[in-house]
Amino acid sequence: MHFDERRTSFLQDRLQRRLKECGMDSFYSYYRLLISQPGKKELTQLVENLTVNETSFFRNKAQLDLFQREVLDDLLQRKQERRDHNLRIWSAGCSTGQEPYTLAMIVADALSYHSMRNPPALGLSLPKPLVLPPWRLEILASDISYSVLRAAQEGSYSEPQMSPVDYGFRLRYFDKVGARYVVKKTVKELVHFDFHNLKTEYLPQRNDIIFCRNVMMYFDEAEQKRLVEKFYRCLNPDGYVFVGHAESLLGLTSKFQMVHHNSGTAYQRLEVNV
Ligand SMILES: C[S@@+](CC[C@H](N)C(=O)[O-])C[C@H]1O[C@@H](n2cnc3c(N)ncnc32)[C@H](O)[C@@H]1O
Repeated sequence: MHFDERRTSFLQDRLQRRLKECGMDSFYSYYRLLISQPGKKELTQLVENLTVNETSFFRNKAQLDLFQREVLDDLLQRKQERRDHNLRIWSAGCSTGQEPYTLAMIVADALSYHSMRNPPALGLSLPKPLVLPPWRLEILASDISYSVLRAAQEGSYSEPQMSPVDYGFRLRYFDKVGARYVVKKTVKELVHFDFHNLKTEYLPQRNDIIFCRNVMMYFDEAEQKRLVEKFYRCLNPDGYVFVGHAESLLGLTSKFQMVHHNSGTAYQRLEVNV
């Protein structure tokens, strides 16, 4: 993890909290604990305390519009022509699940609409699945924090967390359980959660689209460049990457071209000149 001078006080504060929790009074003894075998649990605890997990449903609407109207449309059309009906999207740094579930809802709607315009040859038995065959949708959602992954898997959200979700989406994709909204089983089945540290070499391959928003901003430039290289390799030809509003691939790589529409931005993998 990279902490520049603007984030030193955050680091200091979080470290001090852990020291207090462990009953220690020196950074050095805490460091000795972290690198020891019995300190493994504390290291996980520290990572949990140092990650920033802020997220929300339908974050960055302009970018999601670009995703829905331009990127998905282009991708589904190209796949339909090749008779490849597998769609794989990776939410890298998924936090408590609002991002991958937002994507699941948008893509499920887009696929229903696509199937309406291109009806499958065979009639379908009832009840209809959320994603109609021959399409197969897999959304992989990963994070470095076990606690956010647990919350994401549970998929239970409070009223304030639901404020960006309009009533149409609430009706179709959530169950109301007491005061909370729980993601329906059919939506959960489209999303697979897994632990991945983006700094390691082995990362999920063969993705059509990668969302990695508001994660890279906590890496230093060298680490950002390495990550973008890995994303290139993790994408199918012509695949897309979406990064956060305050992030950009410009200056980090020449292997992607920027796609811009109505203040939404994405980056498409270039297949020539690499
Ligand atoms: C600010 S949240 C962004 C969540 C979501 N992508 C969004 O934009 O709403 C950043 C997430 O990235 C995760 N993260 C930070 N460093 C990571 C790493 N090296 N590998 C995987 N995930 C990481 C954090 O645990 C956190 O859940």
